[in-house]
Amino acid sequence: MPEIENMLVEQQKNTPTSTVGRGKAITLTSTPPTNHWTDGNVMLCLGDSLDHYKNWSVPNVIVSDGAYGILGFEGDTSDHSDLPSWYEPHVRAWSEQATAQTTLWFWNSEIGWAVVHPVLERYGWRYVNANVWNKGKAHVAGNVNTAKIRRFPVVTEMCVQYVFEPRIDNLTLQRWLYREWKRSGLAMRKANEACGVVDAATRKYFDQGHLWYYPPPEMFVKIAQYANDHGMPEGRPYFSKNGIRPMSLEEWAAMRSTFNCPMGVNNVWERNPLKGQERIKVSGLNGKAAHLNQKPLDLMRMIIEASSDEGDVVWEPFGGLFSASKAAKLIGRKAFAGEIDPTYFQIGLNRFQNNELF
Ligand SMILES: C[S@@+](CC[C@H](N)C(=O)[O-])C[C@H]1O[C@@H](n2cnc3c(N)ncnc32)[C@H](O)[C@@H]1O
Repeated sequence: MPEIENMLVEQQKNTPTSTVGRGKAITLTSTPPTNHWTDGNVMLCLGDSLDHYKNWSVPNVIVSDGAYGILGFEGDTSDHSDLPSWYEPHVRAWSEQATAQTTLWFWNSEIGWAVVHPVLERYGWRYVNANVWNKGKAHVAGNVNTAKIRRFPVVTEMCVQYVFEPRIDNLTLQRWLYREWKRSGLAMRKANEACGVVDAATRKYFDQGHLWYYPPPEMFVKIAQYANDHGMPEGRPYFSKNGIRPMSLEEWAAMRSTFNCPMGVNNVWERNPLKGQERIKVSGLNGKAAHLNQKPLDLMRMIIEASSDEGDVVWEPFGGLFSASKAAKLIGRKAFAGEIDPTYFQIGLNRFQNNELF
């Protein structure tokens, strides 16, 4: 049971300043004995993640669960308007280390996501899908005076999927494929012949609008081979990244992030708020939750499993109690996480050191 025993604590005093978080149950009076912990697969770092990213391996998945603009923790902003500048240095750092295989899961409120979306796009993150965590009525039962709030009670959070937009010659893959085929001087319809199909290839792989499809690696190889065999000799090689030879099947496959959709899952996740054994409590404080924002392991596990393979690397820049890293460990991924608050770091670390189920 992840109860926190024998910890020197004092009740958090509520001193509302602009970035003091609400509802922190405890604060450690001692500093954690270590600011850095690893078991070879998971690395947890105490401090600002901005100082740690450079030491982390290239990410396949980034799970961002940072500021919401609700004073949810110390350092959170008091409303959504400051979120773009809060996130920007992190988004920049992620973009510097992301590859075409990196998926980002961006947790937030709907307005928090809305204001940060332009920052993500500016740094090369392509929006894929918005998922809604519906916590159901239990989330507001007894807490909300519907006569006073003048809106409908909110029982959802967003978890938005982005991928890092791969580019070749500074063009998106969609534009680059089209440009290469045009460069070869071949008629567009010849792409069907290249792929051995009647008409789908030209329509799907060279469409310049929303009907575009990423050519599967075996189709890409056929297209590249055809263009290099039949295209104008002076422009060869076609479909090459290095100007020496066409991209291989493996290189093309690496231009795409993993996604395995679990059976029966859609973009509305019906899941009650976290409670019971998994919710980490502080002993001696009437079972108060140790962190207001602790996320369910099953949701973290689902998004990580869908967007990575065993042995892949997950980043959790805003660790809290390190739920994404815990889920990553449970399913054989590597994890790198940061947490700036020593109390949360220590409580989160306990989940790993004691080999807790949760
Ligand atoms: C929304 S909570 C994350 C909760 C977490 N997903 C969980 O399940 O426990 C965000 C956390 O990010 C931490 N944080 C904020 N800024 C940070 C930074 N620059 N580097 C590392 N941690 C940060 C906060 O202290 C807070 O605990």
